[in-house]
Amino acid sequence: MQLPDMQEAKKREQKEVQYIYEEMKISNAFDGKKYFIKTYGCQMNVHDSEEIAGLLENLGYTPVESELEADIILLNTCAIRENAHDKVFGFLGRCKHLKKEKPEVKLILCGCMAQERSVVDEIMEKHPYIDLVFGTHNIHEIPNYLMNLHEGLNIEVKSNESNVYEVGETYKRDSSYTAWVNIMYGCDKFCTYCIVPYTRGKERSRKSADILKEIACLKEKGYKEVTLLGQNVNAYGRDLENDLTFAELLESVAKLGIERIRFVTSHPWNFTDEMIEIIAKYDNIMPYIHLPLQSGSDRILRMMGRRYKKEEYIALYRKIKKLVPNVAITTDIIVGFPNETEEDFKETLDVVNTCKFDGAFTFIYSKREGTPAARMDDEITKEEKEERLHRLNEIVNTYSNENNQKYKGTIQKVLLLGTSEKDESKCYGYTETMKLVNVECNKSLIGQIVDVDIIEAKSFSLDGIVK
Ligand code: 5AD
Ligand code: SF4
Repeated sequence: MQLPDMQEAKKREQKEVQYIYEEMKISNAFDGKKYFIKTYGCQMNVHDSEEIAGLLENLGYTPVESELEADIILLNTCAIRENAHDKVFGFLGRCKHLKKEKPEVKLILCGCMAQERSVVDEIMEKHPYIDLVFGTHNIHEIPNYLMNLHEGLNIEVKSNESNVYEVGETYKRDSSYTAWVNIMYGCDKFCTYCIVPYTRGKERSRKSADILKEIACLKEKGYKEVTLLGQNVNAYGRDLENDLTFAELLESVAKLGIERIRFVTSHPWNFTDEMIEIIAKYDNIMPYIHLPLQSGSDRILRMMGRRYKKEEYIALYRKIKKLVPNVAITTDIIVGFPNETEEDFKETLDVVNTCKFDGAFTFIYSKREGTPAARMDDEITKEEKEERLHRLNEIVNTYSNENNQKYKGTIQKVLLLGTSEKDESKCYGYTETMKLVNVECNKSLIGQIVDVDIIEAKSFSLDGIVK
């Protein structure tokens, strides 16, 4: 709960941000300047980049397709696994030459890596030519930073941010048909392997009235689909007083009448019966649920701090399958958590063989400094971890393929989003159950929900023809 004087302070700060923002807009300080954003990581980061782009364009910046053409380069970074770090270091290496040739170009590091002080120190040692670092809680302050960007490094990283800023519709959304909508920020679950609670802070929900207003506005603008975003959406509202639960929010959004509603990500621990009932009740809540399993071993789940057991996960999975017609369920799985035994791993395979997921994002455990798991002994070799991942992926792909085959010969409602990357003569879109479909159709149908005959099914996509 926030104390009244804190709320006042928050309001004041918010006003100041808006004030600076409007001042700068009037002064046209950045008209004609070009920006390039490189985004790594999850949907949360993608959506943060949409917000950054919106703020920059309101200041007069224009987007460019390559870092070589830009006056400012922003790296919106991800910290979830080691390979995310490596990619950022690779990009920074390329920027080194660029900064030598064009020292006036400003290089800005933001996102989750920027939120970790020790990582920032490491980066700055290797790449001292970075001009500005700001954390995940400071996005709305970009106009201020850009105005004050001076020689030497500028670092602005807030920790334990408790505010939720509502500075109006400032996003430059990637799509005109489907939109991300933040419903909450941060995560309090502290799974022992995960860096997110440290980089994104504690759970903060947006007020339901603000969320509903944003979605009503998107509907008005012609958006067909919204995806409610949060690290753990079913914890929505627990930090607010006299506001809605996630199930109630979902129902209120459904009643707005937007055609498609999705949400990510749900934690199996507090996935309530009420949520399942609401998902089943409304046709515009899509029958697709991403339900991270992480491991099938009770021993590992306990060490991960996941708060459920294997059989509880399977029972929830079955309940959702039973009550939500034609639902598709995907998952996340980590292999090689510290000292995962072959028996533990077999328990994971057992859940996969029981649930036969529509798809799974599979990862090798990556040690994140500062998390409890990073202090656990780990005797498993890299080769063993890779071998487990390989075995897991073979099984996961078999079930994705089997599930997709069931679509062959059916008619599916597909929201067409654009030209297919694989075949320019086709469009691509998604079924209600989030299956990617490459569709033979007239390009003028992009942006519409159409009936598609599914003629072919592969492991990761479907082919179809508009009816
Ligand atoms: N190592 C490997 N995978 C991780 N994830 C989160 N933290 C780690 C880590 N340290 C995975 C989880 C999560 C997904 C977004 O990323 O499966 O659900
Ligand atoms: Fe990380 Fe666990 Fe929170 Fe998901 S629920 S973001 S895995 S701490």
